[in-house]
Amino acid sequence: MPTNRERLELLERLRAQARLGGGQERIDRQHAAGKLTARERLELLLDPDSFVELDAFVTHRTTSFEMERILGDGVVTGHGTIDGRLVFVFSQDFTVFGGSLSEAYAEKICKIMDLAMKVGAPIIGLNDSGGARIQEGVASLGGYAEIFLRNVLASGVVPQLSVIMGPCAGGAVYSPAMTDFTIMVEGTSYMFVTGPNVVRTVTHEDVDSEYLGGATTHTTKSGVAHLAAPDEASALELVRRILSYLPQNNLDDPPIVATDDPPDRADPLLDEIVPEDPRKPYDMRTVIGRVVDDGVFLEIQPAWAQNIIIGFARLGGRSVGIVAQQPSVLAGALDIDASVKAARFVRTCDCFNVPLVTFVDVPGFLPGVAQEHGGIIRHGAKLLYAYCEATVPKVTVITRKAYGGAYDVMSSKHIRGDLNFAWPTAEIAVMGAEGAVNIIFRDEIARSPDPEATRARLVAEYEAEFNNPYVAAARGYIDEVIRPSETRGRLVRALEVLADKRDTNPRKKHGNIPL
Ligand code: HXC
Repeated sequence: MPTNRERLELLERLRAQARLGGGQERIDRQHAAGKLTARERLELLLDPDSFVELDAFVTHRTTSFEMERILGDGVVTGHGTIDGRLVFVFSQDFTVFGGSLSEAYAEKICKIMDLAMKVGAPIIGLNDSGGARIQEGVASLGGYAEIFLRNVLASGVVPQLSVIMGPCAGGAVYSPAMTDFTIMVEGTSYMFVTGPNVVRTVTHEDVDSEYLGGATTHTTKSGVAHLAAPDEASALELVRRILSYLPQNNLDDPPIVATDDPPDRADPLLDEIVPEDPRKPYDMRTVIGRVVDDGVFLEIQPAWAQNIIIGFARLGGRSVGIVAQQPSVLAGALDIDASVKAARFVRTCDCFNVPLVTFVDVPGFLPGVAQEHGGIIRHGAKLLYAYCEATVPKVTVITRKAYGGAYDVMSSKHIRGDLNFAWPTAEIAVMGAEGAVNIIFRDEIARSPDPEATRARLVAEYEAEFNNPYVAAARGYIDEVIRPSETRGRLVRALEVLADKRDTNPRKKHGNIPL
């Protein structure tokens, strides 16, 4: 019989062995590839000494192939804290069979996902894997499916965040794709359904992994990833920052963070920011930066669909999700990508009790054959649907244009906007003056001895009468026309007033958002 001392020594030996994963040589290779190990990543992600590992001694069960049994089997799982708040984590270990997923490995991930759901805490996955463990065949595919199912069941219950820190290919991409946020590391991570070799064979396109599915591609072209970071440490820091704006689960509220920024701080520059010429752009990021607490704005998907801006900030210490047109890109028009980007973000905020603040300067939906044939009707409907369905506090500021259907979509009063403000520069109308005059006064202009002078006069009359916030304010569609410099104070007050808002949708299994 071993003595108690020998038993303790055995435990320490096994722990040390588990910590080494696939061995020093493979750890060195991982470092040489510019990547940290699964455990080093967790140390950076979590509060110091907070990580508690589960299932460190799990091994694979493959019998059909001669394979070493490595403790942990290629994924490090457990829980820890971020800013003192509980999170569950899994970190794929590329040094063990290329981080490939076995049946036992999938069970480890499912176990922490189940625990996270029971106690209501976020799930963070660090991905670095060769995909399905080839030796395990269908058992591995089953393991993926068990994870996918839990991703869906946890969706809207606890925040789920994915960081891609190496390969993520084949069906494996669908787990991150179903989480709330995906962050990629530039230069060392990629995501694709089929890799460059298959692409070359099937479509004869010659691409490398980086162009096909690297961080730049997914944060500028496809919109698959939300953020890219230049290195692993900054990618993990982004996870911490995103979580700081979110509650632990859907029954909780986001944390309130005290600020020295005065709630009623006026900003005279905002009174001048909208150019006199309505066709001239300005940068909506300046408006956001000058209004929110300490000028801190965590923009999400900053390089994709730049005609709309989304991201997190705080107002009077409260988390808010901001959605804003960017007049300096495509004049802020809503196109397919902008609609999809904003719709997903509105739903993310709504399921996690983050109030929505919307800044509107929209000339309408983007015209054109490409947009119509691409389904702008179906995609634009997603944003309309998301705003209609959202029951979190919704506060809207119209800075300039709010034309046509886009006026309705952008958190208007009619679709349960709670408090809707407009700047004196707001133009709330069915369309711009030129377009309107050309349609309704076409005959009068044609008959006139000087059509251009007549058109100019009619445009000026139309602008004076309709391109302002007062027609809408007279109907109560705008609650208050405010000085731009007062915006911060009004928003902070509005969020205080709405802090205990309760609103519901009719009981149903689920709605049928146009996908
Ligand atoms: C078992 C694997 C593996 C896998 C890699 N390894 N992928 N073992 N199953 N899927 C092992 C290698 O044998 C090697 O073992 C070690 O991991 C490191 O791999 P390398 O090839 O040396 O590394 P690298 O050159 O960096 O290339 C990484 C890679 C490549 C690009 C990921 O390994 C690769 O292409 N692997 C196969 C990817 C794949 O086809 N997976 C299945 C996809 S289908 P040693 O012992 O030498 O260290 C899929 C479906 C998901 O995933 C299903 C969801 C529904």
